[in-house]
Amino acid sequence: MGPLRLLKPTMGTENSVNSRKTWTNLMPFFIALVVIAEIAFLGSFDMTKNATMVNSWADALLHQPPPAEEAESKYVVHVEDGGGACEEWLEREDTVVYSRDFDKDPILVDGRDKGRYTCSVECKFGYERGKKPDASFEWPEEDGITPIHRSMESSQYYEENDIANARRRGFDVVMTTSLSSDVPVGYFSWVEYDIMAPVQPKTESALAAAFISNCDALNFRLKALEQLMKIGILIDSYGACHRNRDGQVNKVEALKHYKFSLAFENSNEEDYVTEKFFHSLVAGTIPVVIGAPNIQDFAPGPRSVLHIRELKDVNAVAKTMKYLAENPDAYNQSLRWKYEGPSDSFKALVDMAAVHSSCRLCIHLATKIREEEERKPGFKKRPCKCLQGSENVYHVYVRERGRFEMESIFLRSGNLTAEALDSAVLRKFSDMRHVPIWKLERPESIRGGDELKIYRIYPLGLTQRQALYSFKFRGESDFRSHIERNPCSKFEVIFV
Ligand SMILES: *[C@@H]1O[C@H](CO)[C@@H](O)[C@H](O)[C@H]1NC(C)=O
Ligand SMILES: *[C@@H]1O[C@H](CO)[C@@H](O)[C@H](O)[C@H]1NC(C)=O
Repeated sequence: MGPLRLLKPTMGTENSVNSRKTWTNLMPFFIALVVIAEIAFLGSFDMTKNATMVNSWADALLHQPPPAEEAESKYVVHVEDGGGACEEWLEREDTVVYSRDFDKDPILVDGRDKGRYTCSVECKFGYERGKKPDASFEWPEEDGITPIHRSMESSQYYEENDIANARRRGFDVVMTTSLSSDVPVGYFSWVEYDIMAPVQPKTESALAAAFISNCDALNFRLKALEQLMKIGILIDSYGACHRNRDGQVNKVEALKHYKFSLAFENSNEEDYVTEKFFHSLVAGTIPVVIGAPNIQDFAPGPRSVLHIRELKDVNAVAKTMKYLAENPDAYNQSLRWKYEGPSDSFKALVDMAAVHSSCRLCIHLATKIREEEERKPGFKKRPCKCLQGSENVYHVYVRERGRFEMESIFLRSGNLTAEALDSAVLRKFSDMRHVPIWKLERPESIRGGDELKIYRIYPLGLTQRQALYSFKFRGESDFRSHIERNPCSKFEVIFV
């Protein structure tokens, strides 16, 4: 055990008589040590939760010596500093074997799977004779099967896609375009769109192109189109609404030669951003958006997206379009991301799709199964922290978003901050020569070097909306209390 001295009686079955004698002789000594151990222990653990445990060990020690393994985990008292002894000890003591090995017993989902991909947790889709699935896309007929609701349609057209609605109807797992759903299914990915395709000369005389085919959408997009035309913005319309150009063209190729593209969605719903927007980015034309109120979260760079929030914005946006059209340098600034790469926030968003949604579903289900098991007594006994010198060493777990298995990270009470977590994670994953999960998916020009860069670290279980846009520990005390309240806390890291 190195510098950790274990205050445990060595009990062997062969010399038990002899040991018992020694034990009796040492009794007063042990009682004193129990008191010391108790003080050290209470200092390092949550008082109320562990006070009863300590009492029962004291009792056990007085009446009958505990088995060697029990004693080892409970009577650690620090003797000298340094050497990572606490780390080694925690790594061992906090390791509890889960009852289900997903390599041998994969996650089974009743339903059809789309596409081929690898996944960091074994999972299968479809029917397997004699085996009860973990989850199902159909409403399950048996108990104990998690019902999943999956759709890529806007909840303004299909209200069952509203998360609260789906939950009310009993769906435990919701997969929609909302980044607040359990497993978001977006219209974006590096594979589907050649996002970094080079900018082409803007040869068309009309300022903007429009491909709008459903002329009676629930939002104001048709009125906006008409108003833009009325105030003199030249628009080539390839879709059914106010068509003035032949629609038989390759949409992205056509868009490349316009300065602007009218990316008008059929509903204005948070995170509902479809190929209309992403095609505009591929084409290297500035999207003029009617749609998600949070469209700027999807922008690849500053001033790269124009947003018409409501009808009365049309005039102001038209003015900006005219200004940009007449000022090549300003216009080029809006497309700067095409030359220099998109923002970290855009990369972090699109990287999510580097892992297929079916795989993310399996990771979600497997994580829930593990969390369920962690509520059992074996897991509650994990120490999760250890006293070394005057400091506590905390054991936390971190995994990359999109992967299943977790890595151990150790933090010290003298430096229990989010920054210290960041640097511990960087050190650990760099030492492991970790390769980010999106590495081969992203276009080569924006993959970066081998150095890891952290975009976000957040507690496991947050939604992607929270993780990417809103979550932050409110200072040092918030972080500290999170670690204290959640023994063996788990986090996810997003690298960019
Ligand atoms: C736009 O800016 C990039 C560099 O950011 C430059 O390479 C390109 O030539 C510029 N294009 C125009 C038309 O000015
Ligand atoms: C705490 O951690 C941060 C980040 O790793 C580091 O820069 C700083 O020097 C550490 N402070 C102490 C007192 O160890």
